[in-house]
This record gives sequence, C-alpha cells and structure tokens, in this order.
Amino acid sequence: MKNTQRHFVDQIIPHRTPKQKGIGQAPVNIALSKYWGKRNVDLNLPTNSSLSVSLPGLGTETHLEWMENQSDEIYLNKTLLKSDNAFAQRTSLFLDLFRPNTQGGFVVNTINSVPTAAGLASSASGYAALALALNDCFQWDLPLKRLSLLARLGSGSASRSLYNGFALWHKGQLDNGMDSYAEKIDQAWPELCIGLLEIDVSEKPISSTQGMQNTVNHCELYAAWPDKAEADLQKIHQAIERKDFQQLGQTSENNALAMHATMIATWPPILYWQPESVAAMHQIWQLRSEGCEVYFTMDAGPNLKLLFLRQDTQTIQDHFPSVKVIHPFSDE
Ligand code: DP6
Repeated sequence: MKNTQRHFVDQIIPHRTPKQKGIGQAPVNIALSKYWGKRNVDLNLPTNSSLSVSLPGLGTETHLEWMENQSDEIYLNKTLLKSDNAFAQRTSLFLDLFRPNTQGGFVVNTINSVPTAAGLASSASGYAALALALNDCFQWDLPLKRLSLLARLGSGSASRSLYNGFALWHKGQLDNGMDSYAEKIDQAWPELCIGLLEIDVSEKPISSTQGMQNTVNHCELYAAWPDKAEADLQKIHQAIERKDFQQLGQTSENNALAMHATMIATWPPILYWQPESVAAMHQIWQLRSEGCEVYFTMDAGPNLKLLFLRQDTQTIQDHFPSVKVIHPFSDE
C-alpha cells in the first residue's frame, strides 16, 4: 500500500527536499452530493463524484517544520500527542509519503478552529491544510488541483477542502488515480446559509472509512448508489448555476437520506442517527409544510446541517435556538 501511494506522490511532487517552515490553512466542507464508497482503497479513489460547500472560519491551520535527527512531534491544539495516539499515527503515516529520509522528523502543529460542539469532521480540513503546509515547506509551488490529489490520500473529503465556496471532486476514470481531483465551482450564492445543529458530539461508533467499506462489501442496495449519486450531483450543479434553492435543497436532502439508506441496509447495520436526529427531521418537515424552505443534510454522525436562505434565518433560529448559522459566501 505504501509503495503504491509513494509512487503516486512521485508523479506529483518535484522533489523531497524541505526548504523552510511551512504553513497551511483550510476550511471544513459539507458535501451536498456525498462521497460514499471507494473503488480503490490504497489510492482513496471514490466510486462516485461529490460536490461540497466549504464553511469559512471553521477549519484547520497547520505549521510544519523538518528537523534532522529527531522523530515526528505532533501537536494538536497545542498539546503534544503521544506516538501511539491515533491522530499522531495517521498523520505520521501520511508524512511518510513525503520524507526526505528516515533520520529526521516533522514537527507538526495543528490547530482546529472547528468547535467540537459543531459535530464536524476535521479530517477534511486537516489533510487539506497539511497538503498546503507541505507545499509551502518544500516550495513545490503546486496548483490547488495537484494539492487536492495529495490531500485525497489523507482523506477523500479533504480533496474538496482546498477551496472556498463550492467544490466538485471528480471521481476520475484512471486506475492510477491522477484524474481524481477536486476543483472549484466558480459560483457564489450569498443568500445561502448552513445551520449546524448539534445532536451528539461524542465519538462515532464506526469511522466513515470503515462504514463506507462495510457498505460497499455488505449492502445489496449499494449497487444503486453510484448512478444515483452522479445524477444528484448534476441536479445540484444545475441548481447552483440557476440559483434554484428548492432543487438544491430537495436533491441534497434526498441524496443524504439515500446514502444513509445504504448504510442501514448493510449487515451488520450502520445507523448514525439518534432519536433526536429523527425528531429534528420531523421538525424540519413540519416547518417545510408550513412554507419555510428548509432542508437538511447529514454525514457519518447524528448531527444535522440545515440548508436555508438568509431571509428565513429568524424562523430557523426561533425553531432551533441552538443552531450555529454559517454564511459560506459572506466575503464574495
Ligand atoms: C459521509 O472523507 O472521511 O462525510 O476517505 O475514508 O477518509 P475517507 O473518508 P471521509 O468520508 C466522508 C464521508 C461523508 C460524505 C462526504 O463528505 O462526501
């Protein structure tokens, strides 16, 4: 597996000689059309393309420095992690792909500005920030598309976190994975709001990596997913171009529920929802029946992400007092 990944990296980076300290910053992203399932586990190649929107202000900042004659030192939110810590191990394994030699190590400082309370995955912003920090540290000067190929090896959804606004991760066709990168969709939608609705932020019972692998291998309904995901992505892309919020909301909600349907139909079953997640869905459907255009999406966890337009902010806040409202396009 390491050799396949190192060979992949060799085709992208010009050299393995660090030049200076490096810094990278990247936002978290929410998929509106989801990535669920890999066609190649070693290279993190997805079965379907996906489309996301990034959340400015929530994400990761990573500082990186190469030091001769010492092993890796990984700090997370200013705390030095033990070498057997899962985050530290996963980071060091990723950094193995870029080391100039085995005598030195990287000092990595990762600061997550993702409030744990938001229930958002930080691996997407984490590996995107790390790819940017590596690019700075080695002075490669790679374009974002190429960096998204590197971030993808750390976590699939990280390929989309190189960009602000909307991003599209192409699943690609090639076995070598060189055409499976993300790019920015050049469209702004200033009225679009994302509401983070926290249900439960304790650690999830099964990681998305494991969950999607189990689904691919042990769910008969999964065969229907890749085509549906591609069709949904097209509808969402079109909705963004036309600023058709109803089409965006309906397709995103249906796409998330279809993804969760494949998880539930896996054996053993995978159900990330809590009773409160379902209660929130009913509340959203009730609000919608009363004329408020609000939709939701959900990832590998019990928390909901609401989709609505700025004009409905007050109504949403009245019904969900704990919601954290994000404006993905506030600066554009
Ligand atoms: C449900 O990117 O975390 O959030 O590639 O194994 O690291 P790995 O998985 P990851 O999966 C994200 C799954 C999702 C949907 C999405 O973000 O598209």
